[in-house]
Amino acid sequence: MNVLRFSDLCAQGQVAGRRVFIRADLNVPQDEQGRITEDTRIRASLPCIRLALDAGAAVMVTSHLGRPTEGAFKPQDSLAPVAQRLSELLGRPVPLQADWVDGVDVQPGQLVLLENCRVNKGEKKNAPELARKMAALCDIYVNDAFGTAHRAEATTYGIAEYAPVACAGPLLAAEIDAIGKALAHPKRPLVAIVAGSKVSTKLTILQSLARNVDRLVVGGGIANTFLLAAGLPIGKSLAEADLVGEARAVMEAMAARGAEVPIPTDVVTAKAFAADAPATIKAAGDVAADDLILDIGPDTARWLADQLLAAGTIVWNGPVGVFEFEAFSHGTEAIARAIARSDAFSIAGGGDTLAAIAKYGIEQDVGYISTGGGAFLEMLEGKTLPALEILARRAAA
Ligand code: 3PG
Repeated sequence: MNVLRFSDLCAQGQVAGRRVFIRADLNVPQDEQGRITEDTRIRASLPCIRLALDAGAAVMVTSHLGRPTEGAFKPQDSLAPVAQRLSELLGRPVPLQADWVDGVDVQPGQLVLLENCRVNKGEKKNAPELARKMAALCDIYVNDAFGTAHRAEATTYGIAEYAPVACAGPLLAAEIDAIGKALAHPKRPLVAIVAGSKVSTKLTILQSLARNVDRLVVGGGIANTFLLAAGLPIGKSLAEADLVGEARAVMEAMAARGAEVPIPTDVVTAKAFAADAPATIKAAGDVAADDLILDIGPDTARWLADQLLAAGTIVWNGPVGVFEFEAFSHGTEAIARAIARSDAFSIAGGGDTLAAIAKYGIEQDVGYISTGGGAFLEMLEGKTLPALEILARRAAA
């Protein structure tokens, strides 16, 4: 997708003295006291902010935090903890401005954080009057919020229509490049791992990937529905019997292309969903009526690891077992370690996947870790994200 890139504008000297409005995704998890518990997204936003400051711009940054009620700001909606963390990371004060839509006083070389953009009336519905006012604040609009790129809101879409210049920040550009490398121009074989509790939440992803990937590895509750579709017993495991037909269609579509949905040959079962429930390894055909399947078995894990080692590209979304429980974590660990060892270009995304990556300490060995949750999933579905669509339209104009 052809979009204008902020780094190019900086390199061409087009940013000095300009008012730059950066839409970042600083929507980070917080504990009950409002303390930030995980700051990856804030750290991921730093290159764009530094680029703008180093280029001599007057820099405004905003983000949403949570899903506040528009026009009814509450203290817990505030980006104050984010301003504090940004200030620590940048080593400079980061003032936070409330009520900023009608004007922001910021000079070249300065940085101001604009309070939670989702408290502005009209943000969610992409109200044109709000978008026009925000566009008037800047000379250059930079979207660096990949995590929110699947939302057409005033700070992600409307402002990009009206700002004098609209471009992609380095994080957004890196995400587009990585997903393009994995899905549009993959080195083959391309192996995708799609796991999670329900087929229904990821059916369109499975259908979309079934048209492109060489191996579609399913895991978690999703795998149970596929086991049912393959005629195997799953006991009382979580599954969606009404989607067995859809699962079978995915398997048939893959087979028709000479591709494959590998079905586990062995599984780890328990009689209860609990960390201390005794784990039993069984052949997939031997699952009893009162069994719960909580992980793939060691033979399946070894076979999948071999496939990952031989892959050219790997897309990973979702742990294949209940990896939070030690006894049922070995399948996910084997997959994670194989991805880390593989020479394939790998891309991973989604909250549980990131937690697994952190648990096994393989951050440095994954080709690209996406900051997007819903946005990453929509890219896997093959959708064009609204925030990218408008940037591409502006670049083409
Ligand atoms: C996310 O956390 O996935 C993004 O920040 C988007 O948040 P939203 O689902 O509230 O739009």
